Amino acid sequence: MKALFLVRNGKTEEAFELRDIKITEPGDNEVGVEVEAFGLNFADVMARLGLYKDCPPLPTIIGYETVGRVLKIGKNITHVKEGDRVIAFTRFGGYSQYVITQEKAVVKIDEHYDVVKALALATQYCTAFYACSVATNVLPGEKVLVQAAAGGVGTALVQLCKLKGAIIYGTAGSPSKIEYLKQQGVDFPINYNEKSIDQIPEKMDVVFDSLGGADFKKGFNLLNQGGRLVGYGAASQTEGQNIFGLLKLGIGFGIYHPVQLLMESRAIIGVNMLRIADYKPNTLQYCMEQVVALAEAGKIDPTVGGLYGIDDIGKAHSDLEKRKTIGKLGIKW
Ligand SMILES: NC(=O)c1ccc[n+]([C@@H]2O[C@H](COP(=O)([O-])OP(=O)(O)OC[C@H]3O[C@@H](n4cnc5c(N)ncnc54)[C@H](OP(=O)(O)O)[C@@H]3O)[C@@H](O)[C@H]2O)c1
Repeated sequence: MKALFLVRNGKTEEAFELRDIKITEPGDNEVGVEVEAFGLNFADVMARLGLYKDCPPLPTIIGYETVGRVLKIGKNITHVKEGDRVIAFTRFGGYSQYVITQEKAVVKIDEHYDVVKALALATQYCTAFYACSVATNVLPGEKVLVQAAAGGVGTALVQLCKLKGAIIYGTAGSPSKIEYLKQQGVDFPINYNEKSIDQIPEKMDVVFDSLGGADFKKGFNLLNQGGRLVGYGAASQTEGQNIFGLLKLGIGFGIYHPVQLLMESRAIIGVNMLRIADYKPNTLQYCMEQVVALAEAGKIDPTVGGLYGIDDIGKAHSDLEKRKTIGKLGIKW
């Protein structure tokens, strides 16, 4: 079997190499999955560019999720059996034809459920679910701002917060994405290349920020008393890839005093699903089961951004980096 190794940081055409891998036995509490397709996340772009602190040293296999069939199970595994179609979270290692992962990171998925939608349910919908239902509990009627709302996690947040009865403000960077946000039912779509979010006259109850830097601070300034700001990404980091850019990004986030937060009952919450996977695997499993149930009940419906062949990995990465994509991207073996 093969895996796609990240061998070099930088341009897509030089970054990846297909190499042979061996099929190894899963441990007692692990599951081995033969992969049908794996998902792309913006963190993969950051890892390729060498901007992702958690990425293992190169050469390595990146990738957070796969859909496939169980090939081997450890002796303690009872919730899935060989041949089952599953979504499997991978803590890196997803760009592969065979993955081994922890039992709590594997959930069954309907035979006929679309493969790219299934991939979206893993990292992107679980992150969104964790952010709006565990880290914060968005309530009906609350005003919610979702940054980069046409992206993978952004779409998931829009759908999950709508389900909760929130009023959604969503940002995106092009007219076609704004049109998409309208179709998704975003109440106030904002093209942030035309209007900065600090021009929004209303205060927000919850802000979901994936951009980081100065956008994070603008999000904080928009918060109502009792408001929550969830920071879960720093996509704007790709714009200044040198020490000055990083300094600007770091300073841009702003400085906050706990007394200020206490007096105004405002909260800043950081979300990193890798840490949730490492330290709270039951919570990750809960999020995954919840989003799969919502999808199978037709209450959420991930948007397919594209399913690329393995030879088009460069194009897929480049499309994601250049902000051309809407929804989820998958790569089929
Ligand atoms: N903390 C966690 O555990 C966790 C888990 C998953 C994802 N994330 C983060 O969530 C964010 C979204 O991830 P995703 O996989 O769903 O990606 P995505 O939203 O599908 O793609 C990124 C989007 O961000 C927007 N963007 C804004 N500034 C950008 C820039 N400088 N360069 C590139 N894109 C920029 C673009 O939309 P516009 O064209 O509309 O600006 C782009 O389409 C990322 O920041 C990712 O790192 C965090």
